[in-house]
Amino acid sequence: PTLEAAELERTFIAIKPDGVQRGLISEIINRFERKGYKLVAIKLVIPTKEFAEKHYDDLRGRPFFNGLCDFLSSGPVVAMVWEGQGVIKYGRKLIGATSPHNSEPGTIRGDLAISVGRNIIHGSDGPETAKAEISLWFKPDDLINYTANAEKWLY
Ligand code: PPS
Repeated sequence: PTLEAAELERTFIAIKPDGVQRGLISEIINRFERKGYKLVAIKLVIPTKEFAEKHYDDLRGRPFFNGLCDFLSSGPVVAMVWEGQGVIKYGRKLIGATSPHNSEPGTIRGDLAISVGRNIIHGSDGPETAKAEISLWFKPDDLINYTANAEKWLY
């Protein structure tokens, strides 16, 4: 794709209730910002259990499904959309392996989490899920189109 088209790639990232309550919001946002990705939507929300079940719909039937949905709906979540070239796949790389036991030091989960049931952050796992999750959590108007133009602010 052209650079412009590639930059339009978007992914859904959520800081889960444990990440919010542990005071890790800025730490997590910082890692995406430093990498060079662009924040195009953000809100703080307490999802209902029903909403959490929709978000994790493809995990219905898993033994941990109910507990996972209780957990996601247990407190404020920072829901975000991040944009940039390769952001879906590389965002998962920044996050690290699902189980913090396996996630490498240097990744968000590797550095900041211990347990798979409390792994502080969620990121879409592919282009289809990214699309579905963005439209579940946000209205189209919530996504902001803008150019980050450093020349305007740095002298
Ligand atoms: S899969 O389908 O097996 O590949 O599942 P995976 O992508 O590894 O995980 C999907 C989400 O389920 C969460 N998960 C768990 N939560 C609680 N307990 C256990 N044992 C557990 N195993 C997986 C995992 O964190 C994923 O959630 P998100 O929010 O997408 O990270």
